[in-house]
Amino acid sequence: MIEAQALTHRFADRTLGLDRLSAVFAFNELLVLTGENGAGKSLLARHLCGLQRPSSGRVLLDGTDIRSIRGGIHSQIGYVFQDAEHQIIGQSVREDLAFGPRQYGMPDAEIENRVQDALEQFDLRPHADADPQTLSGGELRRLAVAGVVISGARYVILDEPFSSLDPRGVREVLQAVLQLRRQGRGVMVITHELDKVLAHADRLLVLARGSVVAEGLPEEVAGRLPQYGLRRPAGLIGTMTWLD
Ligand SMILES: Nc1ncnc2c1ncn2[C@@H]1O[C@H](COP(=O)(O)OP(=O)(O)O)[C@@H](O)[C@H]1O
Ligand SMILES: [Mg+2]
Repeated sequence: MIEAQALTHRFADRTLGLDRLSAVFAFNELLVLTGENGAGKSLLARHLCGLQRPSSGRVLLDGTDIRSIRGGIHSQIGYVFQDAEHQIIGQSVREDLAFGPRQYGMPDAEIENRVQDALEQFDLRPHADADPQTLSGGELRRLAVAGVVISGARYVILDEPFSSLDPRGVREVLQAVLQLRRQGRGVMVITHELDKVLAHADRLLVLARGSVVAEGLPEEVAGRLPQYGLRRPAGLIGTMTWLD
């Protein structure tokens, strides 16, 4: 499990981005993280995958401070940026998928196996040789997800994965999220579009001004969202699904 302990981030201008935030993030769980714009969601994500250094406090992975884990934690905790296209670097889908494993010095045969698996799992086989720039929004996000999973990430954080997607793209990305969950990985979906994913979530966590202000079962926490300036999704949570 991943644990944030009194995690604090103070910017150069002294404002607090994260304020002694403590929370636990389990593997084998789909967690939805929400909160107003500027609450600190993306900043928290960057801390959890070791892209930021805390001003104080720490992040533990299975009890070990991530800063003392040799070789870093990128192969274990993956972050899919809000602008997924920024993390696509290959000239083709296949090449992009191979990039991460190659960085880790994986043998070619193993890379080839993993690329084949990833193409299959994330329904990208028809696009294997395509230039990523020609992919749809949903395909691009799936490629970004596949690109972090291929290196073995046990925990995957998706930052606003549904933004600017058409309904078909939303369904495709949601399928990919559920696929990760079925594989027994921990998944964090950062979103304000709760109607798209809450029916499938195990837990909902609300951030405000850099702290956790609510967490619990989605149906329990959803009713309290207006308290935090957030809209409660209309209808019964269990019945809201974007899947066919
Ligand atoms: N360099 C900076 N100096 C001061 N404040 C910053 C800086 N960068 C980001 N912030 C602030 O940090 C807060 C958290 O940002 P972010 O994690 O991106 O929010 P969210 O993802 O929840 O919308 C925001 O209020 C933002 O204005
Ligand atoms: Mg953000």
